Amino acid sequence: MSTYANEFRRSIEQPESFWAEQARRIPWFKAPTQILHYDEANHARWFADGELNICHAALDHHVELGRGDQPAILWDSPVTDSKRTLTYREMRDQVASFAGALKGLGVEKGDRVVIYMPMVPEALVAMYACARLGAVHSVVFGGFAPHELAVRIEDATPKVVVAASCGVEVNKVLPYKGIIDSAIEQSSHKPDACVIFQREQHTAELGARDHDWAALTAQAEPADCVAVKGTDPLYVLYTSGTTGKPKGVVRDTGGYAVALAYSMDVIYDVAPGEVFFSASDVGWVVGHSYIVYAPLLRGATSVVYEGKPVKTPDAGAFWRLISEYQVKSFFTAPTAFRAIKKEDPDGKLLEQYDISCMKALFLAGERLDPPTFHWLDDLLDVPVIDHWWQTESGWPIAANLHGLEPMPTKAGSATVPVPGFDVQILDREGERMGPMEQGSVVIKQPMPPGCLVGVWGDPQRFHSAYMSAYPGYYLTGDGGYVDEDGYLFIMGRTDDVINVAGHRLSTGEMEEVVGAHSAVAECAVIGIHDALKGQLPIGLVIPKDGFEGREDDLEQELIALVREKIGPIACFKQVLVVDRLPKTRSGKILRKLLRSIADGKEFGIPSTIDDPASLQDVHEAMKAREVGAAHEARQV
Ligand code: COA
Ligand code: AMP
Repeated sequence: MSTYANEFRRSIEQPESFWAEQARRIPWFKAPTQILHYDEANHARWFADGELNICHAALDHHVELGRGDQPAILWDSPVTDSKRTLTYREMRDQVASFAGALKGLGVEKGDRVVIYMPMVPEALVAMYACARLGAVHSVVFGGFAPHELAVRIEDATPKVVVAASCGVEVNKVLPYKGIIDSAIEQSSHKPDACVIFQREQHTAELGARDHDWAALTAQAEPADCVAVKGTDPLYVLYTSGTTGKPKGVVRDTGGYAVALAYSMDVIYDVAPGEVFFSASDVGWVVGHSYIVYAPLLRGATSVVYEGKPVKTPDAGAFWRLISEYQVKSFFTAPTAFRAIKKEDPDGKLLEQYDISCMKALFLAGERLDPPTFHWLDDLLDVPVIDHWWQTESGWPIAANLHGLEPMPTKAGSATVPVPGFDVQILDREGERMGPMEQGSVVIKQPMPPGCLVGVWGDPQRFHSAYMSAYPGYYLTGDGGYVDEDGYLFIMGRTDDVINVAGHRLSTGEMEEVVGAHSAVAECAVIGIHDALKGQLPIGLVIPKDGFEGREDDLEQELIALVREKIGPIACFKQVLVVDRLPKTRSGKILRKLLRSIADGKEFGIPSTIDDPASLQDVHEAMKAREVGAAHEARQV
């Protein structure tokens, strides 16, 4: 039996002994004796009686081991023309001081702290400071509008909000203070305090509730690590679901720490002292797991990059970072490479850099489309590894286990289930499907350590969204199949979630915004293919009877409304006024049919992201008001 097969079998057949062994990777204050149990709702919980502090495990512990002078993070910000190195000792000290500052504001174990910050070292300091106190952080991505921030503040009820004075997008300085004030005004919950980290690019004017990060920290007494239980929450991270209200994915502490430490070894093959670079954002799960926590739990160095894959200054940015910081493993989203490929199709910029330090390239966030896979595979001498995961899983569900037993890659496949994840493909009735048969991708209980343990404040939603469709299984929301060799192919979402430039968005949420416009009678938002971003949202709108305005004006108003309510990150830039939308007899909009229209299946339009013309074709077809007609024709 291969090493992988043996490891996988042990993880599924003897989960308790398998994960008890992996738990030794973590410096617990009190090692767990209870490895797995099921809570009152019958959900798996890991390491309940273990005690630890993830900030201690990631920082203090490594300083104690003698890594104090090793860089913990290498911050590189071409958008502000700055670079900074923070050693493990410096990180620990800054985190302890900021934790002291938060403590001074009354933050205690279990309290929530919302963090709204760009890719600056202080974002990591703030996250670790919360963890140090046993407080629960909730990081909100900077591309979200005030309303989205307000929804999260309302739900998480933070005692404190921590923010920066601004973000920087390529060459635009985006002040944050107005966004925060507006969000707090819109929320019925008011945090006691806001701490603002003032950046050189823009100074925020502070109000009565606000504190200056530097002044507050200078006066603070450094705080020690507070012991928490393995099952205590580390963070809440909001992600898009099928409805307008985002789900607060709750992550525990012990299981997460163990899973991340295991993954750095068996998946990413990064050893203590080596450099890992994940080009994502602290606002997404990839950032939480593989910029902030996993590299430092492993005693490695994490590159923190404030910039884009292109235009900062050019499409050679990633190659420069890999070479300059001697990155061993690199991780980003396929859309980033589609952007690079567009600007530098022959990879000419790569010739300027020696990237022989890089031993593997990992991609996730969306399916690695075969053309991008082949482009990278031809360009680079290292394995190009697509791996699949979700905010909910917290770490990869399927991957090529590069640190355990590298396997041949297959274009379009995330390779094999990671040990701990009993991935199965089920049909509608819950029957297990055979090789090459496409169905719903589920994970048999128990989910391994590291996965979500609840939806913040809404146990019922946790059950209804994930656990009720197939009792005994977690519903991933993705469709796919397994081939004859056991390789997993994830083909896309089976619900109303879309993936735009590696960012997960809810069409339901956009529909709520569009539908609230006074001139809109009915609407549907669907994702259509885009050559660069994978998918883009498009709104199909029926105006109210008697609408006398110009269709173009309505389209522009709706685009502005989604940008204002959800944020620029929604990339909602297309609206089509249509006569009809396909509906069931009872009047429900047939979203599935609309999705297949957008997929091109209804019109026989070739529609993969390999085919940049498809967006235009779908656009034309819809504009020609064929949406309803096509459906009617089908019924006949
Ligand atoms: N703060 C404020 N605004 C932001 C933002 C942030 N952190 N991130 C993005 N935006 C804005 C952008 O400025 C843009 O605004 P615009 O409409 O005024 O131009 C809008 O949101 C859309 O951003 P994006 O979809 O990122 O488009 P882009 O053209 O700026 O960049 C890519 C395209 C592909 C280069 C970029 O999306 C990318 O690097 N994606 C990788 C994503 C990723 O790492 N995902 C995590 C999973 S691994
Ligand atoms: P997020 O929760 O933002 O990480 O988005 C998770 C979703 O992105 C998954 O449910 C998939 O639909 C998609 N996704 C992420 N990685 C992959 C991948 N490697 N292959 C296919 N889809 C992916």
